[in-house]
Amino acid sequence: MELLTDINVRRTTQSKIAEVDFADLEFGKHISDHMLVCDYVRGEWKTPHIVPFGNLVANPSTLALHYGQTVFEGMKAFRMNDGRINVFRMEKHYKRFVRSLERMCMAVVPKEIFVEGITRLVQLDQAWIPEQQGNALYIRPVVFASEAKFGVKVAEEYRFIIFTGPVPALYADPIRVKVERDYIRAARGGTGYAKCGGNYGGAFLPTLQARQQGYDQVLWTDARENRFIEESGMMNVFFVINDTLVTPPLSDSILDGITRDSLLTIARDLAYKTEERPVSVEELKNAFATGAITEAFGAGTAAVVAPIGTIGIDGEDYALPAYTKMSISSRLKLKIDRLRSGREEDRFNWNYII
Ligand code: COI
Repeated sequence: MELLTDINVRRTTQSKIAEVDFADLEFGKHISDHMLVCDYVRGEWKTPHIVPFGNLVANPSTLALHYGQTVFEGMKAFRMNDGRINVFRMEKHYKRFVRSLERMCMAVVPKEIFVEGITRLVQLDQAWIPEQQGNALYIRPVVFASEAKFGVKVAEEYRFIIFTGPVPALYADPIRVKVERDYIRAARGGTGYAKCGGNYGGAFLPTLQARQQGYDQVLWTDARENRFIEESGMMNVFFVINDTLVTPPLSDSILDGITRDSLLTIARDLAYKTEERPVSVEELKNAFATGAITEAFGAGTAAVVAPIGTIGIDGEDYALPAYTKMSISSRLKLKIDRLRSGREEDRFNWNYII
């Protein structure tokens, strides 16, 4: 790819890669050697710099620390079968990043800085891409309001950073989730569809309480009636009911998940029946009573598919059949893995080869 953006590069003289045990990765623990930093000042984005990864110096009045103007993305790079590097669904991640930034009134990072920044950074730190199937180099672009001024206002200065780190697949084993009827994640007209920091921070207390009750995550319900399922923890959610793959429809309270879209597209291509429609807690209970529900799973970039083994509804636990290689979710996950690694043709044009 021919690069259009000027990017200054200062390489590290002390790589930390020898400190990583690639056979025993932990999500979020290791960060690759370099990061990209780009500032927005006086109405324009300055030249991006790739520098050794390190701490930032922050003025305590930095606006993001007070009023929450922060937006991030999460995406993955893979080493393909033929040795090339693939950043999965770069275009769709960028579009969502823009939507999130716009919702939070933040300066929009130009596409060439996003795309070429990721390209250069991943190329430079390509030794950090795990080889093991299922593992990946996680890419974390983040923008925050960097203006140092504590008046309550839309910031006029922003900092865009990209860093990466090797990760394993999250939630490989079935999880226990609890239908959350008291707390909510997002309401109509709110920020639920944006990938802004507050959506995650606000979820910690209910999740912690669910953990104390023996669950791993919560199944979020709608803000108006606490009746319809919206998401699972920090992921979208799918059910297999009467052999149909069902997921709640997108709205302003549901994140437009890239994995959600990939799974739906692949499922339709494989001629599975799919439905994007509201799923009520009542419907789930009935589906357990009749045996119509055979699978439930979270879907997100970090985990791809997080199988759900048990759903707690109003104090009662409902068990799902065992997750096996024959599960629809397992087949769809395998298909995504094959497509991303180049073992299968990229029919949907999702691979961004760098
Ligand atoms: C993902 O599933 O990739 C997410 O967005 C969760 C992330 C905060 C780790």
